[in-house]
Amino acid sequence: MRVGIQISGRGSNMQALVAACATADFPADVALVISNDPSAAGLEWAAERGIKTAAISHKGMEREAHERLMDAALVEAGVELVCNAGYMRVLTPWFVDKWHDKLINIHPSLLPSFPGLDTHVRALEKGVRWHGCTVHYVRAPVDEGPIIAQAVVPVVAQDTPDALAARVLKAEHELYPIALKLVASGAAPVVDERVMLAEGVVPYSVCHPGVAS
Ligand code: GRF
Repeated sequence: MRVGIQISGRGSNMQALVAACATADFPADVALVISNDPSAAGLEWAAERGIKTAAISHKGMEREAHERLMDAALVEAGVELVCNAGYMRVLTPWFVDKWHDKLINIHPSLLPSFPGLDTHVRALEKGVRWHGCTVHYVRAPVDEGPIIAQAVVPVVAQDTPDALAARVLKAEHELYPIALKLVASGAAPVVDERVMLAEGVVPYSVCHPGVAS
């Protein structure tokens, strides 16, 4: 399956997906890395490795007009599945519908808890004991959509938002390739707005309390 990865910044999740796609028998290839921010560090990283990249700035454009340019670049690259990896723009219903069930996202919380921004600060404020990340199919409401896979990390007594974010990010890098493999191999179909996994498929990875960072 030809994958397009949408980023806005450093692109560490994109790097994890690129590494996974380079492994033997992985059912996906990265056809394009695309950013709304031409200065995104992840673009340079991908280009240096010979991956096709595109930068399409959203500045001074209507949201949908920008998305139509992003969409055209994805289509031109033959992309069949779009992976949002730190893509920081809210998508319009037009784009979400165009890529229905062919557009996935990673979010740094255990959805449906803590949609939106500043998830680690809010998790600490609520005093949750477990936090984590979610890969889900994208629907028009932000951070909603059928859940493909989740990873759980502990919240420890001395945690700061940065320490917790680092622990979750490590889990993200494990989880996103697991989720992409499920989707690209056809093992995560959406039925009645829930992902129905085949029997025996394990849709998560867990970082145990012994993991300090
Ligand atoms: C990740 O935590 C992702 O879940 C969130 O933004 C961050 C992006 O990091 N949406 P990176 O660009 O993948 O390093």
